[in-house]
Amino acid sequence: MPSLDSTSAPHGTGGTDAMARAFRARFGGDPEGVWQAPGRVNLIGEHTDYNDGFVLPLALPHATRVAAARRTDGRLRVHSAQAAQPAEVDLAGLVPGSVEGWAVYPAAVVWALREAGHEVGGADLYVDSDVPVGAGLSSSAALECAVGLAYSDLHGLGLELPQLALLAQRAENGFAGVPCGVMDQMASACCAAGAALFLDTRDLSARQVPLDLAAAGLLLLVVDTQVKHELADGAYAERRAGCERAARLLGLSALRELEPSGLEAALARLPEPGLRPLTRHVVTENARVRQVVSLLDAGDPRGIGPLLTEGHASLRDDFAVSCAETDLVVAVANRAGALGARMTGGGFGGSVVVLAELGDADRIAEAVADAFAAEGWKPPRTFTAVPSEGARRLG
Ligand code: GLA
Repeated sequence: MPSLDSTSAPHGTGGTDAMARAFRARFGGDPEGVWQAPGRVNLIGEHTDYNDGFVLPLALPHATRVAAARRTDGRLRVHSAQAAQPAEVDLAGLVPGSVEGWAVYPAAVVWALREAGHEVGGADLYVDSDVPVGAGLSSSAALECAVGLAYSDLHGLGLELPQLALLAQRAENGFAGVPCGVMDQMASACCAAGAALFLDTRDLSARQVPLDLAAAGLLLLVVDTQVKHELADGAYAERRAGCERAARLLGLSALRELEPSGLEAALARLPEPGLRPLTRHVVTENARVRQVVSLLDAGDPRGIGPLLTEGHASLRDDFAVSCAETDLVVAVANRAGALGARMTGGGFGGSVVVLAELGDADRIAEAVADAFAAEGWKPPRTFTAVPSEGARRLG
């Protein structure tokens, strides 16, 4: 049962001409331009970003494209190739909670721009995306960054890419109501082709870490389990609140400040036992990110495999955000010869990243597909993650 889709960029969405044609068919006029921002997969550094910690994501070839033109009547009209119904938002009454469905993300970006003091008006937007939705691969960050960059260019705002990421995070936190960290938006905005982004979320200092896995005879598989468990949103907010409480109780401004050498003593000082595993995950995960970066810098990509699997165990046992489907992918992939594997993104479903020798990828994908079939689960979707470019104008 071959399930490995190894296509790389450009993905299913149309080129600029096709985007312009589709825009004209919906709105009757020409777009002023076409912008694109990718989804991401995180190599390691999970649930560290809202603890001021380290992350190492890469951009996927899967991306969201937006053809846009300004309007002068204060209305935001959005059509998507993936949505049956278009949406129209009156920007005069734009407050959190006033927009439902996927249009919440473009509306959130306009809201965040206005909050930041930019006097931006309405627009017509045509959106096309091949970033899997609900797969933990940051489809919402891709949409926010593509719309944000379009607005920045159309209104001459000159937003730098990290500013764009912060704006998109503000949109998501303040308008869409998702208390996420900054990793997804920074990855979508700032990643470079052929590299992973080593990001310090405390000050947004970042370095592109070359990731030419093919040259080393390796590849990175993404296995999208195609499940998203209901508790995902509430549990994310709970984990975040737990980490912030642990930091406060330890007299720190964020758990990032705790080094592995001080971990045991800190755990012993924490009065609430329930906060100990959360704290241990964040501290050990930050250390794993730094170790992975050192190994990649030293030209030893195979060496990172065990750290990926350790990271998964920590997310499963200490942070408690994995689930039966992601645990099974990790176990089966490793048994089938993977060098390492871990869930990626927020958890409770979503995707797993698997590091494998090139020649083993099909066998691993097949073993995972067979294991899902044996459980009676819907087949997972597996593809190769080629580190791709961040947000940009296409035409
Ligand atoms: C989601 C959030 C990110 C990050 C990850 C977990 O993707 O949007 O900010 O917290 O979960 O690492």
